[in-house]
Amino acid sequence: MKKIAVLTSGGDSPGMNAAVRAVVRKAIYEGVEVIGVNRGYAGLIEGDFITLGASAVSDIINRGGTFLRSARCEEFRTKEGRQKAADQLRKEGAEGLVVIGGDGSFTGAMLLTNETGIKTIGVPGTIDNDIACTDDSIGYDTAMNTIIDAITKIRDTASSHERAFVIEAMGRHAGFLTLAAGLAGGAESILVPEIKFNIDEVCDKVQKGYEKGKIHSIILVAEGVEFEGNEFETNRDVNESNAFTIGRIINERTGFDTRVSILGHIQRGGSPTGRDRLLASRLGAAAVDAMLAGETNKMVGLIHNKIEVSDIKDAIEGKKEFDKDLYELANILSI
Ligand code: F6P
Repeated sequence: MKKIAVLTSGGDSPGMNAAVRAVVRKAIYEGVEVIGVNRGYAGLIEGDFITLGASAVSDIINRGGTFLRSARCEEFRTKEGRQKAADQLRKEGAEGLVVIGGDGSFTGAMLLTNETGIKTIGVPGTIDNDIACTDDSIGYDTAMNTIIDAITKIRDTASSHERAFVIEAMGRHAGFLTLAAGLAGGAESILVPEIKFNIDEVCDKVQKGYEKGKIHSIILVAEGVEFEGNEFETNRDVNESNAFTIGRIINERTGFDTRVSILGHIQRGGSPTGRDRLLASRLGAAAVDAMLAGETNKMVGLIHNKIEVSDIKDAIEGKKEFDKDLYELANILSI
């Protein structure tokens, strides 16, 4: 193999730059040329490439976002779009493609390989940490620390004003990030999509905490939270985030002055933590190793601190198990 391409795709995550850097430098070390694809699959279809030498990736290990930029591309969802992408890679002489992203990006990579024979290796990059076949994905640790920092700051003002705060974290379909940040941030209640919550229990906890002398209450909610019972449904305004409905009900039931804080895309930015830089560096280099070993349709991950190369299909279709023990522990520790 003489030349490979690398792209970042889907929602960006802190550490993607460090992963691109590792791909480029490891490939150069192995005598392989690297081209970067701008704007994910959209740029791939258009042939929007740049040559990446070792110095092109200087000073990016510390930067959040992705300097290659990212996109969610409709055309790549079509067979024609993927064929165009393969033609562009072949025209450029690139024999393989490293895709840094989440499960949607991996599905695109798998279809590209199956339909056109272009070799692909996936590197998991998403703050959601919902990819199977790896313990952690790039960006998760940084986002977790961003949320913990936000909880710490909000707790200050919550205590000053004796308020309850409903804080919404990212995660439409997965609560891994919310659970970890909620536990490490000391939230009183943690609501995630994997476990339906009961609004009565949430209100009871706020009330009991108040009676025990707590002067604040933090309820950390994932975007895609699921609830049980009709009562929540009746009170719910479909045009607003669930966090606001939860906040309103808590206020009505407990009398606790309540505020809502939606953390939003602040969770996707910022300089990556040491842990994310380390993970990105190891996985980026491992992707090149896998490519040069002739692998394709694979994802590189880290399991029990060891690099593992898995079928990308398993990473896409395998369900990462939600840690119920950790969830239980968070409940125990927040009494
Ligand atoms: O998948 C990563 C993620 O940040 C989710 O947590 C969130 O629900 C979604 O992307 C937001 O996507 P967008 O930036 O396109 O609004």
